[in-house]
Amino acid sequence: VPVEPFDIVVFGATGDLALRKLIPALFHRWCDGQISDDSRIVCASRDSMESSAFQELAATHVITAKTTSERKTSWAEFAARLTYVSVDADSESAGWTDLAAALDPDESKIRLYYLALPPSIYGSICAGLAAHKLNTPNARIVLEKPIGSNYHTARAINDKVGEVFRENNIFRIDHYLGKETVQNLLILRFANYLFEPIWNANGIDHVQITVAESLGAGKRASYYDRSGALRDMVQNHLLQLACLVAMEPPASLDPDAVRTEKLKVLKALRPITAANVSQDVVRGQYQSGAVDGETVPGYAEEVGHASQTETFVGVRAHVDNWRWAGVPFYLRTGKRMAARRSEIIVQFKPIPHDVVGATEGAMRPNRLVIRLQPDEGVKLMLMTKDPGPGGLRLRYVPLNLAYAEHFDHDYPDAYERLLMAVVRGNLSLFMRRDEVEAAWRWVDGIIQSWEDSQSKLYGYQAGTDGPTQSALLLAREEREWFDGLED
Ligand code: BG6
Repeated sequence: VPVEPFDIVVFGATGDLALRKLIPALFHRWCDGQISDDSRIVCASRDSMESSAFQELAATHVITAKTTSERKTSWAEFAARLTYVSVDADSESAGWTDLAAALDPDESKIRLYYLALPPSIYGSICAGLAAHKLNTPNARIVLEKPIGSNYHTARAINDKVGEVFRENNIFRIDHYLGKETVQNLLILRFANYLFEPIWNANGIDHVQITVAESLGAGKRASYYDRSGALRDMVQNHLLQLACLVAMEPPASLDPDAVRTEKLKVLKALRPITAANVSQDVVRGQYQSGAVDGETVPGYAEEVGHASQTETFVGVRAHVDNWRWAGVPFYLRTGKRMAARRSEIIVQFKPIPHDVVGATEGAMRPNRLVIRLQPDEGVKLMLMTKDPGPGGLRLRYVPLNLAYAEHFDHDYPDAYERLLMAVVRGNLSLFMRRDEVEAAWRWVDGIIQSWEDSQSKLYGYQAGTDGPTQSALLLAREEREWFDGLED
């Protein structure tokens, strides 16, 4: 379904995110006929260059040896629509008038200002937009993470942006919320009767959330080295996933109804302090190893100096409310792990009484595996009788919904979906100011505790599941990390 005509300005257009994700996302939506020809795409950054040079640069990220000639023709048509403007956020004049001239003079048209830039510049861009009267009535600002590097910097950024845009026109991206399977979490929980009655401490033993990547810090090393896995992934993606698992049913999918429930979860997270940080949090950094059969250097070698930045974090978190009392949420994320794998595992309680008299270990608790990527799917592990004449033998088998087998259409990538959601003004897939700040408060507590307790940074070999100490987070409670693909 086509969206209303809109103008978009991508600030930071020559950066990695814009070239790798945003321009291709706009191209794909345009190819699918969702973006009408009276929409304008303006690409802005400090570099001075002609639109044609920018179009060529963008092509290098879209056209590969495998691109079909049909697609190449579409690209040529789309690329001709990309206007490039050089804008210096710190200068009062440079480029702003050119930017205004590139936009539709119709002030009621939907406008998106996408800041694919470091957060330190968000304030000056917003001030520039206001000074040049570009914050028109239907203008929306899209902010990339990280919003700040702690609670105070996040607040300062939110204040600055808030001086120019109303909260309802501020779209804070967490691209995990744009993933198909993440959106399905709400449907799975709230459009089925099955789970909700036992989705609490009575029915659930614990929850595991894993976001493992096989890539290293790569080209983003200078940002990453200042950030680390806790700020880069846990503060946003993993906590958002935990919120969707733990939140109370909202009254509707109205953005504020959903976001208010997520906020309650963030506020109920038990603070991690210097007294418990070494028990509840594991930090690691990858060393050289092999990923997918290829030898890869360690993190320090990759960034070119010794570093205390963590590339792996494992956390045992608790949501201190009635529903989740005593149910641990184990979160882990890391770079250069064995494989790219993101999943949520909900482990149910063991049955209260075994009528079968199964041998030790044969009776296993139900488990729900929500596979976010790759190989999206939902799998419910059940106990079943092994068919056959050999008496009563039990088998633990999956009821398996593999997206690739059940749904034959390609679905849009997270950025495509989120960009269209901004045009539609659907805020439910974006973080509200108070959510971001509450997430930072909890994360700041961990960082402070690391500093206070001079916490250890454990090495792990690239191509593994992280430091061995991460297993201890669970082993102490006689649990273990699962791999959703097993069984
Ligand atoms: C980003 C992080 O937000 O998410 C990156 O900054 C990370 O470090 C990326 O690689 C992971 O996203 P995805 O969609 O590839 O799982």
